[in-house]
Amino acid sequence: MARPRRKTDLPVFQTRRYLEPGPIVLVTSAQGNARNIMTMGWHTVMEFAPSLIGCVIAGGNHSFGMIRHSKECVINLPTTALIDEVVGVGNTSGAEIDKFEKFKLTMRH
Ligand SMILES: Cc1cc2nc3c(=O)[nH]c(=O)nc-3n(C[C@H](O)[C@H](O)[C@H](O)COP(=O)(O)O)c2cc1C
Repeated sequence: MARPRRKTDLPVFQTRRYLEPGPIVLVTSAQGNARNIMTMGWHTVMEFAPSLIGCVIAGGNHSFGMIRHSKECVINLPTTALIDEVVGVGNTSGAEIDKFEKFKLTMRH
C-alpha cells in the first residue's frame, strides 16, 4: 500500500533552504574606469519574452550604486572550482578593494 503523503508547515524563516538552492552567480558592473564584482543568490526569472530577470541588491553594496548609475550589469555563472572566490567576493566590498586583483578574476571571456 502506498505511504500516505505528508505535508509539513514551516515558519517563513525556515523556508530559505528550500527556496534558495538556485545557482549562486557573480554580478559584474562598471562605471567609467571603475569595475566591480559581487556574489548574488537572490535572483529569479520573471518573464519569458521580453526576457526579464529580477534580483535583490542591498543598497549598502558598492555594486548597487554602480549598477544604478550605469544601468547595466553582467550575470556570470561560476563553476564549483571558483567556490573560494565566490565566498571571498561575497564577503568583501569593491568600495575598499579591487576584487578582480585580489581574487585573480577578469571581466574578459
Ligand atoms: C552566497 C552569497 C550570496 C549573496 N547574495 C546576495 C544577494 O543576492 N544580494 C545582495 O545584495 N548581496 C548578496 N550577497 C552579499 C554581497 O555579495 C556582499 O555584500 C558583497 O560584499 C557586495 O560587494 P560590493 O560592496 O563590492 O558590491 C551574497 C553573499 C554571498 C556569500
